[in-house]
Amino acid sequence: MAHQVIRNALVYFSPTGATRTVAKSIAQGLAINPREFDQTLPADREKKIALEDAEFVLLAFPVYGGRLPPVAREIVSQLPKGKRPAAAVVVFGNVGPGDALAELYDLCVSRDFEVKAAGAFIGEHSYSSVLGRNRPDDADRERARVFGVGIRQTLFSNSVIHRETISKTPPATYRAYQPKQSLAFMLKPRSCEVCRFCIHSCPVGAFIGGDPKRIDLERCIGCAACIKLCPHKARKFEDDDFLDDVAIMVANHSEAKEPVLFLPPNLPEYMGGIG
Ligand SMILES: Cc1cc2nc3c(=O)[nH]c(=O)nc-3n(C[C@H](O)[C@H](O)[C@H](O)COP(=O)(O)O)c2cc1C
Ligand code: SF4
Ligand code: SF4
Repeated sequence: MAHQVIRNALVYFSPTGATRTVAKSIAQGLAINPREFDQTLPADREKKIALEDAEFVLLAFPVYGGRLPPVAREIVSQLPKGKRPAAAVVVFGNVGPGDALAELYDLCVSRDFEVKAAGAFIGEHSYSSVLGRNRPDDADRERARVFGVGIRQTLFSNSVIHRETISKTPPATYRAYQPKQSLAFMLKPRSCEVCRFCIHSCPVGAFIGGDPKRIDLERCIGCAACIKLCPHKARKFEDDDFLDDVAIMVANHSEAKEPVLFLPPNLPEYMGGIG
């Protein structure tokens, strides 16, 4: 169905900032009053998001283990249900998006949203400064902006993206996401200035008692915000097995990947299908 869209809600979760940059670049291309709902920090998620009728919703999440981080399900499931146009966007660290985009598509459908566009962009990997280094870069941001222009065109047509276009794999065959697997690393402050920026940047409130040295590893989702965003580079990954795994990942995925974008086929050729 064609929608009379006057508002645009950006809903995203972005511990280390790549997903936020991609979402905002897409919004530039959309050029519709964006209402921004950054859902990264626990305090952000306390307020319920009220969407207007027919408001366009851009949902953007990073890829964790070829899936969405579990918090994505919490965020999307509290959005009001209704026939609204939506775009599903994931950002991955140059390894691969796995099932994350299909998972986000299904979450959109669970809220009755009509998926007008979907895309997987590349961001610097949370665990490496080599994989996806400095991405999204200028070219990625421009690609995202043009993608936003394409999305805007879809809002005035009946076109939608079909689930099979993204993946023919039914949800039942998804790999189970294992958040704890990637957490076999220690977080130890070195040259720590006790500025507590890491504590304020943690998306799940995993620091105990306001102490940058004490992390509740049961709560930690391994997002690496406390490592990547520390202004004094006082943290690093230390576990040898974990670092070996990262080195293998870097060796196997060093070639720069390109965004994969899905727009309905009646749009200009350079923007439709897999980009
Ligand atoms: C726990 C965890 C698992 C990840 N799994 C993948 C993955 O399966 N494939 C991939 O390409 N990148 C993976 N990444 C990298 C992130 O998707 C990537 O760095 C993304 O840009 C992070 O988004 P953000 O900057 O918005 O937090 C993973 C990162 C984390 C923290
Ligand atoms: S952000 Fe860095 S310097 Fe600041 S408290 Fe955390 S570890 Fe210490
Ligand atoms: S403690 Fe864990 S969840 Fe919190 S910022 Fe650090 S890696 Fe992310």
